[in-house]
Amino acid sequence: MNLKIGVIKGDGIGPEIVTEAMKVLDKVGEVYGHTLDYDQLLMGGASIDVHGVPLTDDTIRRAKECDAVLMGSIGGDAKTSPWYQLEPDKRPEAGLLKIRKALNLFANLRPAVLYEELKGACPLKEEITEGGFDMMIMRELTGGLYFGERRTVEENGVMTAYDSLTYNENEIRRIAKRAFDIAMKRRRKVTSVDKANVLDSSRLWRKVVEEVAGEYPEVTLEHMLVDNCAMQLVKDPKQFDVILTENMFGDILSDEASMVTGSIGMLASASLNETKFGLYEPSGGSAPDIAGKGIANPIATILSAAMMLRFSFDLDAEADAIEKAVADVLREGWRTIDIMSDGKSQVGTEKMGDLIAAHIA
Ligand code: IPM
Ligand code: MG
Repeated sequence: MNLKIGVIKGDGIGPEIVTEAMKVLDKVGEVYGHTLDYDQLLMGGASIDVHGVPLTDDTIRRAKECDAVLMGSIGGDAKTSPWYQLEPDKRPEAGLLKIRKALNLFANLRPAVLYEELKGACPLKEEITEGGFDMMIMRELTGGLYFGERRTVEENGVMTAYDSLTYNENEIRRIAKRAFDIAMKRRRKVTSVDKANVLDSSRLWRKVVEEVAGEYPEVTLEHMLVDNCAMQLVKDPKQFDVILTENMFGDILSDEASMVTGSIGMLASASLNETKFGLYEPSGGSAPDIAGKGIANPIATILSAAMMLRFSFDLDAEADAIEKAVADVLREGWRTIDIMSDGKSQVGTEKMGDLIAAHIA
């Protein structure tokens, strides 16, 4: 099979971790007989440096010509980087929001799994993590507060800022359907997270999710308020299968969920539209503080590449092979610094990529 993949290495640790994911993909291509055709695309700070804007129309056009896009991370240190002297809509993050919208990537899947081998890195007590946990956060990605109208004005001499949180029923319905479809392939439970005791958008969310649930009688639906969910994630993460939520809540809860797995450096993500196309990226950020040091954990990006093979190319055996290679390397005791514990062997970014690629046979 010929796989046409757009690659956005991005900023900070992005280039280092994407290079390792490409190494693993190349090995998969070799072993399973696929050709990989990469188109390197610029986004975020890297695009600002060349074009003055974080995302160009040409990049959007080229991304659309690919079957899928693999991305590292974008953004820099907000205190020191010149990118943050620019107007908010010219900063690196604006490029990411724009590409999500331009490609209609409304469904963001963020799996949070506690690896048996990494239990030591999990900050929760053993009695809570006993038996592990495995949840999928489904975050709505192209609506809500991050895409609502915003402005900052002076009113009667007082600076006032507005952000609006808007959802229509169609936006809620399509993400809810995705969540229930995914739950059908898992443990058949959906926890829909909202703030329906305060927000109108959440009350509509609840109503539409309940309608969709009617079409999936085998799936158990429960509603949970977002503040309670934040607490339940550390109190009893095992209770969750699929968490369905709106954009901002999903942004926050997915970082929390990643931390309880031990490290944000382990978490993959997929952003999908109505077709097979997807953008795949680690859940973590660009970590400018450790960029260029060769110590970043490439596993989240490598696992994102596995998600890409599974969702965009239907290459399940190949995706399984990557996931197994990661598990094997961890079982053998290899660790990057973020997941290091006593008695294990510490390796850098490149060596971790080499080890995982070598385990694909
Ligand atoms: C994420 C990031 C982005 C988001 C930022 C960089 C705009 O935090 O993917 O979770 O909030 O969506
Ligand atoms: Mg985030």
